[in-house]
Amino acid sequence: MNNQADILRVMAQRMKSDLKTQILGQDQNKTRVITVCSGKGGVGKSNFVVNLGIALAGYGQRVILLDADLGLANLDVLLGIVPSYNLAHVMAGEKTLSEILYEGPNGIKILPGGTGMHELTDLTEWQLETFLAKLSKMEGAAEYLLIDTGAGLSKTVLSFTLAADEIIVITTVEPTAITDAYGLIKTIRQKRYQGKINIVVNRVASEAEALVVYNKLKIVINRFLKHSIDYLGCLREDPKVGKSVQEQQPFFLAYPNSIAAHDINTMAAKISNQADQQVQNKGIKIFLTKVAEYFR
Ligand SMILES: Nc1ncnc2c1ncn2[C@@H]1O[C@H](COP(=O)(O)OP(=O)(O)OP(=O)(O)O)[C@@H](O)[C@H]1O
Ligand SMILES: [Mg+2]
Repeated sequence: MNNQADILRVMAQRMKSDLKTQILGQDQNKTRVITVCSGKGGVGKSNFVVNLGIALAGYGQRVILLDADLGLANLDVLLGIVPSYNLAHVMAGEKTLSEILYEGPNGIKILPGGTGMHELTDLTEWQLETFLAKLSKMEGAAEYLLIDTGAGLSKTVLSFTLAADEIIVITTVEPTAITDAYGLIKTIRQKRYQGKINIVVNRVASEAEALVVYNKLKIVINRFLKHSIDYLGCLREDPKVGKSVQEQQPFFLAYPNSIAAHDINTMAAKISNQADQQVQNKGIKIFLTKVAEYFR
């Protein structure tokens, strides 16, 4: 945040938010929990989460990123931070949550996952409950909890997806990625997921290409899964994404004028504006209670 316009924008957002509390009596302490997932791996989830989080923070929102890709966590790598401790240490009861809460750009907070870590399923019931109880203390610490998940449909991914207020499903234009996105949505619908489903189409040449993919998904999901989906946006193919990964600098900051940064900003603005008409967020506690239920 480096110029007066940015500061004014943040102040305006905060005032809007306060006004909403007064008018709607909305509980500001409830965090909006969004899980980002995909059927196919490698479609751009982690980059999306990191850069969207930073962009949302630019709109005056407090954001926590949770790296739920427990086996191959890499949000910290994308951010160029080297955490000494991570979620594995919290699960083992060795560290408190605040001890592994790292600060990133624009004031975002990151809960890093541990590379080579086990699945949540490996925890005893008591360890899982203790871990979730620690996480639930974050309620009210941020407007947004963005959760990055691993590829595939492990029990951990499914639980974090099913328990969320809303999800963002990322796909590319590849037929395999689209089919797998459909497969993921089919699975969660069979498990009675009722929340909002947002679609992001990544690595497109143009928005028109993204809309073709979205409309195809929308038709089959409406017809066969009896659920509606929403178009959140697209992320165009941009060499700056790969470059920023190499440099361990989020492209939103390293290349603020890039196509990818522009597209992320459009989606962050949309999400941030949705918060004004948002049905009440259920918050982190209810989310974690549901995660625990899916593990029983
Ligand atoms: N819009 C884009 N333009 C160009 N390259 C991209 C774009 N989005 C993603 N990529 C490339 O795809 C790679 C994989 O992205 P990322 O690690 O975010 O995917 P992921 O879905 O998190 O993968 P995994 O399923 O393994 O967790 C990036 O390193 C980058 O090189
Ligand atoms: Mg990833």
